[in-house]
Amino acid sequence: MTAVARLHRALDALLPVIDILDGPIDGPEPPGWCEARGWGGFLLSLDPLELKRCEVEGLAAALPSLAGAPVSLVALGEAVTRACELPALRRPLAPPRAALRAVGERKGRQLAMILGAIAPMAERASRIVDVGAGAGHLTRLVAELFERDALGIDRDEALLRRAAGLQDARERQAGALRARFERVDACREPLLLRGGDLAVGLHACGTVGDLLAQAAAGAGCGAALISCCFQKIPGPVREPLSRAGSALRLQKASLGLANLTSRPEGVEDSIEQTLAARQARHALFLLLRSRGLDLAPGEAMRGINRRRAHKGLVELAGHALRLRGLEPATEDELRFHELEGARQHEHMRRLALPRHMLSRLVEVLIVLDRAACLEEAGLDVQVQTFCDQADSPRNTCILAAP
Ligand SMILES: C[S@@+](CC[C@H](N)C(=O)[O-])C[C@H]1O[C@@H](n2cnc3c(N)ncnc32)[C@H](O)[C@@H]1O
Repeated sequence: MTAVARLHRALDALLPVIDILDGPIDGPEPPGWCEARGWGGFLLSLDPLELKRCEVEGLAAALPSLAGAPVSLVALGEAVTRACELPALRRPLAPPRAALRAVGERKGRQLAMILGAIAPMAERASRIVDVGAGAGHLTRLVAELFERDALGIDRDEALLRRAAGLQDARERQAGALRARFERVDACREPLLLRGGDLAVGLHACGTVGDLLAQAAAGAGCGAALISCCFQKIPGPVREPLSRAGSALRLQKASLGLANLTSRPEGVEDSIEQTLAARQARHALFLLLRSRGLDLAPGEAMRGINRRRAHKGLVELAGHALRLRGLEPATEDELRFHELEGARQHEHMRRLALPRHMLSRLVEVLIVLDRAACLEEAGLDVQVQTFCDQADSPRNTCILAAP
């Protein structure tokens, strides 16, 4: 199936429900999109075990076995599941342990998978350009394994110094280095790709992924792109890159949704920890509002590191009130908002399920738009998953060969 055909299928699934993306759940009442479709009663009636299953497996997977699910919600779940299906590419190429240097275990597994996926293209390339190279692990490995000149670019000087520092002293003395690093801000300077290049981006953030796809399409060179952090864009809206995706205009707030994935254990936090932090953030919102602050829901956390919410309402409220120059909360106040936050959060978890069901679809759509842009430029494009989501939640991979 071509990338353009996949993109059309995914657009057919999203466009009729795109209003759901613009209606995050910020209180215990069903939002307009939920009322309009008659889903509120069903969602709010889910018992705790059913709710947990939906959160762990994803609503689309759980729906067929839930009694009383509205037909339109089941149909949406099926369309989303079909649209998100991607073939799995599992062709690891484990680099020698010594070559990995400071790489951790999970990153090592990701690198083995991506090296295996790009091997045929890397062997044909005259140069490999690693866009958003970070500490340069992939840049060094492709230079070493495929014996190619490799250029790692990043806008972060400190990371590039670390990348150069990880290079082997013996190689440096012999002047035999094939990996070089350069400071480039891809959002301010053009990516100067050439016809014989292979451009790679491992977890290229937001706009950087778009720029890589566009530059490779313009140069007609190979590209391998693992996308992530879709919300990192300069403006309020992500514009589509491809002709086939011209209807796909996504708000920045909806792009953040693409970072959510259902899995029993988070890569950084478990689902329980994530839910507890969400509940604490909502309780803080209620507390600040009771103090007379006129806040939109997201604003309660302004100026506060989101990880603070993991410490619970007492710590979070203490910090937020100090920040705003307000009196500390009393014990009664904290207890009341903790309970009210918990009560409302139980509704919000249920009402959020359909919107969260669209998270992987948003991710896949952006990836397919990038892939379609490369395909429309005449490249031979495959879109696959390159590793399990336990190793990298953002596990889609675009491979585009000239
Ligand atoms: C998620 S990290 C990935 C790093 C590396 N590829 C890896 O997988 O370990 C994204 C990298 O992109 C870099 N980056 C972000 N915006 C950039 C830009 N506008 N130009 C160049 N590099 C950028 C960041 O500094 C960071 O090192």
